[in-house]
Amino acid sequence: MPVPPTSGRLQWNAVPPPLRARLEDVLGAPVTDTVTPGGGFGHQLAATLRLDGGRRVFIKAAPDDDPLTPANLHEAAVLGALPPGAPAPDLLGIHHSGGWTAVVIAHLDGPHPDLSPRSGDAEQTFALLDKLTSSPAPAPYIAAVRTAPSPMGALHGWNELLCAPPADLDPAARARLPQLAELEAAWPALAHGDHIVHGDLRADNMVHDRRLGVTFVDWAHATTGPACTDAASLAPQLVLAGHQPADVARLLREHPATAENPGTTTAFLAALTGHWHRNARRPAPPGAPGLRAYQHRAAAAGLALLSY
Ligand SMILES: Nc1ncnc2c1ncn2[C@@H]1O[C@H](COP(=O)(O)OP(=O)(O)OP(=O)(O)O)[C@@H](O)[C@H]1O
Ligand SMILES: [Mg+2]
Repeated sequence: MPVPPTSGRLQWNAVPPPLRARLEDVLGAPVTDTVTPGGGFGHQLAATLRLDGGRRVFIKAAPDDDPLTPANLHEAAVLGALPPGAPAPDLLGIHHSGGWTAVVIAHLDGPHPDLSPRSGDAEQTFALLDKLTSSPAPAPYIAAVRTAPSPMGALHGWNELLCAPPADLDPAARARLPQLAELEAAWPALAHGDHIVHGDLRADNMVHDRRLGVTFVDWAHATTGPACTDAASLAPQLVLAGHQPADVARLLREHPATAENPGTTTAFLAALTGHWHRNARRPAPPGAPGLRAYQHRAAAAGLALLSY
């Protein structure tokens, strides 16, 4: 699956010297090399640090007044509160110095998973989700995510497109705008639940670690919600990776979390697809040049799926 391009990321040499010194001190060795992996749209530092002696750690860092710093701290709180065995890397530390904040995370070694039909990674990912969402979230996780209100219930787009349909709107969407707006209107009332929701599952927010297998990263949007949320959000990603929409629709009808909540799954997919169709047409935000092109592709994949 093509991974959205990285650009405009802060680099290690932008980190204020007091924070770099503090990190090298707590990590016990100087940083000899940094690698910024492909994937993601954020502008904060997100890099693998190689330390003298060969050990590697992963770090996310930004100035304290950057809006991504609260997101990085939310991710750190979540990593520290996920239940044992959750498919996530360990939190190694949070450090503040020189007006910046850094979150240090255990390094995962491997590529992004291959969600295409020829790989077993999609099946592995759905099996992980099944395990993660088969019971309610534990109390420490609920406490960790409670501080950041989830934007998940506010996903929408079709209602705005219905009022002013853009000239380039896919004819299949144009013909069904009232129905799509009605489907997404059901989502806010269904968006509540007490299950773990990663909230941003895509191939580039996972690493196929050589030892641990598929592992979810980038928990900055983690929240609680219906058990079907992450599995439903992965469905358009499978279409983008080359699966037939009919096969993915069948998978959703059979996967435990989505099979038990078909109405919620459909309402969420309608809201997510509407959000993509609307946002893809907005001006690109600074520092995220690949985002709108990705949203156009994802919007088309979501629409293909909704027709099933
Ligand atoms: N613990 C880790 N070990 C190794 N690589 C990681 C780790 N966590 C993330 N990565 C890699 O770094 C990339 C960027 O990290 P991450 O997704 O957490 O931040 P982000 O991309 O800035 O967030 P967003 O997707 O919201 O833009 C990921 O796509 C992944 O390739
Ligand atoms: Mg990411």
